[in-house]
Amino acid sequence: MYRAGIVTLSDKGAAGEREDVSGAVIREILEKSGFEVISYRLLADEGEALKEELIRLSDKVECDLVLTTGGTGFSPRDVTPEATLAVADRNAPGISEAIRAYSMTVTKRAMLSRGASVIRGATLIINLPGSPKAVRESLEYILDPLFHGLEILS
Ligand code: MTE
Repeated sequence: MYRAGIVTLSDKGAAGEREDVSGAVIREILEKSGFEVISYRLLADEGEALKEELIRLSDKVECDLVLTTGGTGFSPRDVTPEATLAVADRNAPGISEAIRAYSMTVTKRAMLSRGASVIRGATLIINLPGSPKAVRESLEYILDPLFHGLEILS
């Protein structure tokens, strides 16, 4: 069973002003697909804190997969891709390319998501966009080939 971590990036969520539906959608899809969700955290849109959390989930908790949601757009506070790339050993851009390519068939605004996908050690880290709808569309699309990638990575 693969071990997964979830990180939601949301200033409003972290301030208790918004319920984290996107994180719950990720958990639901992962658990339905046979992952064990061993960590879930809701953070404000802060690059340093996200970097620390991604390093913790990869190096200490030893997650096979880490999914983030939020902070991939153009707002000045959207720093998820930069923090993710900063902790990367290797890039895995095809996953984000696939998410954007599929999402473009749903909404042209998909081109505004700057999400990245990277490998740190034996952990695959993928940035999903922020809305529950976008999370569901993106994650359900990439799930099948992810298993093959995780098999090769471990
Ligand atoms: N991708 C999918 N599949 N469905 C969507 O509705 N919304 C887009 C995009 N990707 C969307 C999507 C929009 S409107 C934005 S602004 C970007 O994701 C960035 O979202 P974020 O800043 O919440 O991460």
